Amino acid sequence: MNVLVTGGAGYIGSHTVLELLEGGHQVVVLDNLSNSCLQAVRRVEQLAGRKVRFVEGDVRDAALLAQLFAAEPIDAVLHFAGLKAVGESLDNPLEYYSNNVAGTLTLCQTMAAAGVFRLVFSSSATVYGEPASMPVSEACPTVEPTNPYGRSKLVVEHLLQDLQRSDPRWAIGLLRYFNPIGAHASGLIGEDPLGVPNNLLPYVCQVAIGKLECLWVHGNDYPTVDGTCVRDYIHVVDLATGHLRALEFLCGQPGCHIWNLGTGQGHSVLEVVRAFEQAAGCAAQYQIGPRRAGDIAASWADPNKALRELGWKAERGLGQMLVDAWRWQNQNPQGYR
Ligand code: NAD
Ligand code: UFG
Repeated sequence: MNVLVTGGAGYIGSHTVLELLEGGHQVVVLDNLSNSCLQAVRRVEQLAGRKVRFVEGDVRDAALLAQLFAAEPIDAVLHFAGLKAVGESLDNPLEYYSNNVAGTLTLCQTMAAAGVFRLVFSSSATVYGEPASMPVSEACPTVEPTNPYGRSKLVVEHLLQDLQRSDPRWAIGLLRYFNPIGAHASGLIGEDPLGVPNNLLPYVCQVAIGKLECLWVHGNDYPTVDGTCVRDYIHVVDLATGHLRALEFLCGQPGCHIWNLGTGQGHSVLEVVRAFEQAAGCAAQYQIGPRRAGDIAASWADPNKALRELGWKAERGLGQMLVDAWRWQNQNPQGYR
């Protein structure tokens, strides 16, 4: 297939582009490099031994998109492009609605005009809020998210559901990611956050390598195994292969389909820190701090729908995720820069 990957220079996008190339697909990447750099695409090419057509541009640029669809025989779109920092979305909601919602709208309008109706969207487990029971399945109701980032994801889910209802030619996959971590086993591509990381794993890695002094564990008074929050961490390469399985499914089945991408296993923050120390063979200093606003106690997936319908399940355990994250950090102490 010829696949357009928006946001393909980013963390999850770059790993997925590699899987697509290795699966024999042709790939065009559209990315404005607002949170990534071209080096990621070059490294993917190096790993795959194949070229990627890279277009630097914005998914909100309707003229550019129209040109792209006219020039390339695109069969399907994987739509990763968007902003993802919860705290930043509270300070700058317009940028979040613009990139995440308006960007998707422009993309869908261009796709429809070009007669391309196959789309996979990066959604998030954040749409479940604090679930009443665990594990959380796709049948669980979504809730009003607590921040503009989360709301932008839910708005786009609704937009895409409405679109598919209006025109049955659309085949859309809404992938609700749990917590992607880790890196490709080569250590050549991985997560490269700008500035101080918000997320747990990049923070732990930067403490272990000496760039940051100490991890602040956000609260140890939650009703969990050791008082720290529990999440479903999933290896980014498993997440990437989930996209390929979703694409294959959408070739035969129009509709708007929702799949959780998680492992089905929850781990607390302290379990992750201890497992990291074991995987990396070095200490990660931490202190217990107050709760972080907006965090929920626990969240892990029921991944059975993806297994049943896509034949997909996560293969890599927490130890592998942490070994791979540490290899990436060690080999690239300054990220791609
Ligand atoms: P990322 O920031 O590494 O990748 C996003 C990419 O999109 C970047 O390369 C960025 O430059 C590009 N981009 C942003 N706005 C753009 C625009 N308007 N036009 C063109 N390119 C644009 O993030 P990621 O972790 O790879 O996340 C990918 C997607 O998955 C995002 O939509 C994110 O919201 C979603 N998601 C991520 C997580 C996570 O924990 N990483 C969890 C749930 C959902
Ligand atoms: N944590 C710390 N210290 C840190 C960073 C994180 O203790 O410095 C804790 C958090 O409190 C949370 C856990 O580690 O308990 C995981 O936090 P992350 O920030 O890594 O991930 P979240 O579960 O908060 O959020 C992630 C993505 C969101 C997405 C959500 C659900 O960042 O975009 O998963 O998919 F919405």
